[in-house]
This record gives sequence, C-alpha cells and structure tokens, in this order.
Amino acid sequence: MTRDAGRERISLPEDGTVRELEPREREQVGRHWLARAESELSTASVCVRVARGVLDYGAVPEVTWLATRAVADEVRHARLCHALAELYLGEPLPFPRARSMGEASFGDAPPELNALLLLVLQSCINEGIATAYLQENLRLASAPAARAVIHELLRDDIEHARLGWAHLASANVDEAARRHVGLALPTLLRLGRQAWSKELTSAAFDCPGHGCLAGFRHAAIVDAAFEQLILPGFSHVGLRGAAGT
Ligand SMILES: [Fe+2]
Ligand SMILES: [Fe+2]
Repeated sequence: MTRDAGRERISLPEDGTVRELEPREREQVGRHWLARAESELSTASVCVRVARGVLDYGAVPEVTWLATRAVADEVRHARLCHALAELYLGEPLPFPRARSMGEASFGDAPPELNALLLLVLQSCINEGIATAYLQENLRLASAPAARAVIHELLRDDIEHARLGWAHLASANVDEAARRHVGLALPTLLRLGRQAWSKELTSAAFDCPGHGCLAGFRHAAIVDAAFEQLILPGFSHVGLRGAAGT
C-alpha cells in the first residue's frame, strides 16, 4: 500500500490467488469485503461521537490525538476493504455509507458520563474485540492483498483500543467517574458481546485464506478477547471488582 503526502492513495499488492478462486467463491469473498467496508464506515461514525466527547470534556493530548485520528483511520479502513471488494468482484463499486444510528445514550447518565461510557465501550471493549478478531484473521489469511489490508486494520485498532486504557488511567477520569464506569461495566461488556454477535455470527461463508471468517469461529475469538485483553485491562486500571463480574 502506498501513501501520498496529504492525499492518500489506496493500492493493494499484486495477488494472483484471487484469479485462482472459483467465480462463486470469488463473488462471496468480494461481498464479504464490501460488507466490511460498510462496517468500517459505521465505526467511523461512532468514532466521531467518541472524539466529540473527548474534545468537549477533555483528555490528555495523546488521547485527544488518537481519538480524533481514529475517525480518519476508520474511513481509510473502509477504503481498503472497498478496494479489496473491487479486486475480488473485478469491477468498480459504489462506496458504501455508514449505517444510520441514533445517539448512544446510557440510561439517564448526564452528558459527560455518557461520553465516557461510550468511549469505554467503543475503545476498550469493541476495539479490543476487533484486535482479537483481526489477529485471528491475519493468522489464517494467506492471500497477499487480504493479508496487507488486515495488517493495516490491526495496526490501527491496537492504537484505538489503547486510547481507552490511557484515558481511564489518566487524571481526566476522577474517582467518581471511575466508580460509575465500574457500575456500568457489566452492561458495557454485555453490549460489546451483543454487538459482535449481531455483526458477525450471521456469516455462514468461511474462506479464512482470503480473510472471511464464518460465524462459528466468532464466539471463541470474543471469549479470548475478554479473557486475555479486556478483563485484564479493566483490572489493570483498578476496575478489578467490576471486571470480575
Ligand atoms: Fe477499523
Ligand atoms: Fe478501529
């Protein structure tokens, strides 16, 4: 993949393995990557809300930078997935748009707490699961173009997850706010698990060499993310009791 200064071009590595697929399989892989492009744009839309919360209520410079950069990263992810879909489907495709979603609100939480809970859900939990998913995706992928895209997505999502932990560990989140996060944690964890089940488990098509993981693989990935990354992360930032729920 190449980058221009200022205006970024998306170009994928040569990949002869795409032509070796049966037409039906190639079509399914292409459709999979087009759906992922739409998901990435929807994630960008969530990241806009997270970034706005960080700007409105404050964060350390590194978190502010990562949260605002994440919006553009997710749009680039969408472009990469869209380019891959075009490669597999062999024709130009309209660029998708983000799924429309309402404002995220957590009960009657006041706006500042609402913004914090959204950041924790999106960054620590959703991006943590995304990281585990992409690690498994990369481990099983062999096609050069799909591998290159997955590698880029993974590199960024590790940073997107890191911003949540950095924020929770910072002085911008006081004791009262941490207590609220602790109380909300079981709900946030359930929402994260639900979002990923809804997003992915309907997938019946399995072609891991080209980056498509069927639904039967997803539960184990989400479990591993919770056990190895997310729950230890909450323990590390002092929300141990709630993380143990
Ligand atoms: Fe992404
Ligand atoms: Fe991300």
